Amino acid sequence: MPLINTQVDAQRHSVGSTLLLSAAIALLMFSAAQAQSETEATAGNGAGNGVEKSVFGHLPDGRQVDVYQFTNANGIELRVTNYGGIILSLKTPNVDGEFDDIALGFDSLEAYLSDEYRQANPYFGALIGRYGNRIAGGQFSLNGESYSLATNDGSNHLHGGDQGFDKVLWQAEPFESEAGTGLVLRYTSEDGEEGYPGRLETEVTYTLTDNDELMVDYRAVTDKATPINLTQHSYFNLKGEGSDTILDHQLMINAPGFTPVNDTLIPSGELRSVDGTPFDFTQLTLIGERIEQDNEQLAYGGGYDHNFVLDRDNAAADELVLAAKVWEPASGRMVEITTTEPAIQFYSGNFLNGDLTGKQGQTYGHRSGFALETQHYPDSPNQEAFPSTILEPGDTYRSRTVYRFSAQPNVDS
Ligand code: BGC
Repeated sequence: MPLINTQVDAQRHSVGSTLLLSAAIALLMFSAAQAQSETEATAGNGAGNGVEKSVFGHLPDGRQVDVYQFTNANGIELRVTNYGGIILSLKTPNVDGEFDDIALGFDSLEAYLSDEYRQANPYFGALIGRYGNRIAGGQFSLNGESYSLATNDGSNHLHGGDQGFDKVLWQAEPFESEAGTGLVLRYTSEDGEEGYPGRLETEVTYTLTDNDELMVDYRAVTDKATPINLTQHSYFNLKGEGSDTILDHQLMINAPGFTPVNDTLIPSGELRSVDGTPFDFTQLTLIGERIEQDNEQLAYGGGYDHNFVLDRDNAAADELVLAAKVWEPASGRMVEITTTEPAIQFYSGNFLNGDLTGKQGQTYGHRSGFALETQHYPDSPNQEAFPSTILEPGDTYRSRTVYRFSAQPNVDS
């Protein structure tokens, strides 16, 4: 059985099984198979393991963009495009075994390319690079040289710049391994691209396992020292995308501290304890419980938009530790996130304002999705005390984050 059911494979199969029939009948079946394969690739009904590939659309310069659909043994279905490595949809069961798409996003490439979307720029589901989060003033110095990056978030640089890794076409290669099925995405960012030094060869692997995990592995090498901070920017609503707010979700973040920010969301450099603050998520707590409190940090973020420093408890740098867990009581859906990263950005979707319309025709309103972005700290290239984000030539950047999906009527805090 071929791993990918491309249209070509579907046609070949169809022709093979009709060898004895007349050319006219074969031709008829030929187009039927093609039509079916096109719809199959977008409909997806969660039947069995596998990968299906279909065309998502074309970029203005004519390059083709594809969609890969993966289904695991339990019917969890993941759709990813090689444009920005974007997770388009993720269908997981609730406590009654009913599947819903829990990832915010769109059904068409045009929607991701539209001016409206680019202006709002929520980075739905995308791979973020070369540097996830903010760099103050778009400036940093490295080895005695100053570098200027795009200031695409007020006076700061955000998520890699004007054309970050979320807006480029990745080379994609599906695979099947013992761990599951998935997609390897590769992108080479040239020396000087978006102002960053060094030619960076990046590889991100998505693996959907039969243990209901989505594993994301990041790897990169460079030919000059460069900052790097790759992450995944999916927004989830565990009631199903297009539902109302995520304020009724319960969140645990395994973080004793966070990095307070100024009013442009750049860390001051302080590492502050979460004790006694609305940032204490060390036990499962309703996201909405304290979000409206009169608190300077919440005011700066318009809600939660902060970097939480994980309790890695002397874990080795390549060891996965629990970073966060989110549970939604009505559906029972839960996602647990483990990572090798030292921190996680919790963003409560404060900038969503109902301007964007999602897959079911519902608008994505204020706080209708949350993002939990595993990462190094924001503005690290300018903050000596933060763990380094500099990748040196000869070294390999490696990072892994695993999202595990489940459903249960109750949880322990
Ligand atoms: C940032 C937010 C930003 C959002 C979309 C998040 O990672 O922390 O401030 O609005 O991405 O750009």
